[in-house]
Amino acid sequence: GPTLAQVATARGFHVGTAAEVNSLASSQWRYVADSQFNSVTMGNEGKWDATEPAQGQFDFAAADAIADYTAATGKRLRGHTLVWHNQLPAWVSAERTAAEQRQVLIDHVTGVAGHFAGDVAQWDVVNEPFNEDGTLRSSVWYTRLGEDYIADALTAARAADPAAKLFVNDYNVEGVNAKSTGLYDLVRRLQARGVPIDGVGLQAHLIVGQVPSSLRQNIERFTALGLSVEITELDVRIPLPADAAELTQQAADYRAVVGACAAVAGCTGVTTWGVGEVDSWIPEFFPGYGAALLFDEQWQARPAYSAVVEAL
Ligand code: XIL
Repeated sequence: GPTLAQVATARGFHVGTAAEVNSLASSQWRYVADSQFNSVTMGNEGKWDATEPAQGQFDFAAADAIADYTAATGKRLRGHTLVWHNQLPAWVSAERTAAEQRQVLIDHVTGVAGHFAGDVAQWDVVNEPFNEDGTLRSSVWYTRLGEDYIADALTAARAADPAAKLFVNDYNVEGVNAKSTGLYDLVRRLQARGVPIDGVGLQAHLIVGQVPSSLRQNIERFTALGLSVEITELDVRIPLPADAAELTQQAADYRAVVGACAAVAGCTGVTTWGVGEVDSWIPEFFPGYGAALLFDEQWQARPAYSAVVEAL
């Protein structure tokens, strides 16, 4: 039958994977990714430590490799990520005035978004700005610049790449809850000020059996604001070893997430955070968990794969 990418493309939808330069060198990864996904997100290559390791010294070698891959294979490219509190080189947090810190942010956004202007369909401009209670996280950005850092980043990104759709991306914002309401209220404040924002990314690093029941309602409240919504980093982790019942539940979870997005006109794509066990971040970051993606250790489709195809 048709591949996942073919099914998605036929209905104007995007199914993506995160990609790292190491993965591009794997013939097995390439075999699956080339045929099954029509969108790719920079895995680590677009982050600050990779793109501006020293102040004013930009290095796009790794991110360019991802962009070259998407150009060569006709896939959509998602840029990830311009402003975050993780994977920052130490120089970014060195002591300086607020005015200087703001210029550091603007120069970075301008340099990176400018380099990829015309190639990136969507940027995760600001990543993970929220605490669980919906307040803004005490990052170097918020602590030194206040909430305005978000507007400054979005405004600089729009100026550098007017064609890219600009997203704010976070985790634990899939259901209606305090954190997603913080995101919703932020979007409304930005829109009221005329700050450019085009979409919100719901990362969706989920645990098997725990898809929020309010996922679709949450997606709809954002699209009602005129925004696009994307599921940006989907994985559904299972306590290892995963048994058949858990893989069946996981398939239902994937079906629910993809089905909720596909049912809402403004929800334009679902990206999984990798292809298979080899390139999943879960075993390292959530010890004791794994089996979180659509393909297994041998690059064979898990039950969730067919569930996703059927949900589209
Ligand atoms: C992860 C990568 O997959 C890892 O390789 C890296 O060591 C840490 O970051 N939320 C995000 C992603 O927005 O950038 C993170 O990616 C996963 C959580």
